[in-house]
Amino acid sequence: MSHPKLLVTRRVFPEVLELLRERFEVDANPADEPWPAAALRERVRDRDALYVTGSDRVDAALLEAAPALRIVASGSVGYNHVDLAACGARGIVVTNTPGVLDEATADMAWALLMAAARRLSESERWLRAGHWKAWAWDQFLGQDVHGATLGIVGMGRIGSAIARRARGFDMRLLYCNRTPAPNAAELGAQRRGLDALLRESDHVVLVVPYSQQTHHLIGARELGWMKPGATLVNIARGGIVDDAALVRALRAGRPGAAGLDVYENEPALDPALLEVPNVVLAPHLGSATRSSRLGMAMLAARNLMSWAEGAGPLTPVPL
Ligand code: DGY
Repeated sequence: MSHPKLLVTRRVFPEVLELLRERFEVDANPADEPWPAAALRERVRDRDALYVTGSDRVDAALLEAAPALRIVASGSVGYNHVDLAACGARGIVVTNTPGVLDEATADMAWALLMAAARRLSESERWLRAGHWKAWAWDQFLGQDVHGATLGIVGMGRIGSAIARRARGFDMRLLYCNRTPAPNAAELGAQRRGLDALLRESDHVVLVVPYSQQTHHLIGARELGWMKPGATLVNIARGGIVDDAALVRALRAGRPGAAGLDVYENEPALDPALLEVPNVVLAPHLGSATRSSRLGMAMLAARNLMSWAEGAGPLTPVPL
């Protein structure tokens, strides 16, 4: 019996490709750069299965070019890059990778929070440029993290992992969710509306999925609710924050600093962001530890293997 045909859109760990080749006839991009849209549409034409990253757009045009497609496995927990309605209408299975990246992403949220609140990137740039001539009492004064109020927008798996780490910093914890988080009492977190959370928090971390409802959830009005000097961290998705409004707000010092891992049109950045000193910028590294990324890549592959074996995918996205 011939193997189903699989397209892998980006270079992936060799052990993952090896596993996939046991059950699939694989056409794999050996490069990190995505294929141009026309080339991708051509390659997907006869494919039964698609292995994508969170940075590959699986939209109506691509789905139309893939009449035989039956499954899309994404190596990401987020799935806003996949047109779920179109997949559902065609009976195409979609899978993601929940659970394997929570702790690494929570660590990264903290790295951004600490770096932004304590002005690490800004002061390192200054030091490397040879400006440090003397220690001074008020050099690069940042914000206290210990004992401060942390607001978590989106108390899901990753939000909870961020909250657990806050205990070690003796923080007061607030969170904002559409429904009460079942573990809120255990975490010592109090629920607030977005408005109150932004007004009361010294540091705010965004961990909500991107959707039409969360597009520009944080814009000029919401940034204006934040405390002067507060810190904003976006570890979730670009598009949740209005980047242009954030640039204006950072210039005005409200919030006082930001740590960003994701951007509205990444990998392209609003050039103004590069000019603002009080923002720490990372290139979408939330899950970027070897164990976490390999875990994601393997879970995406195992979803495909399980599907090919007739057992159904392990972690399907509800359609
Ligand atoms: C995810 O898993 O959604 C991360 O953002 C990586 O794309």
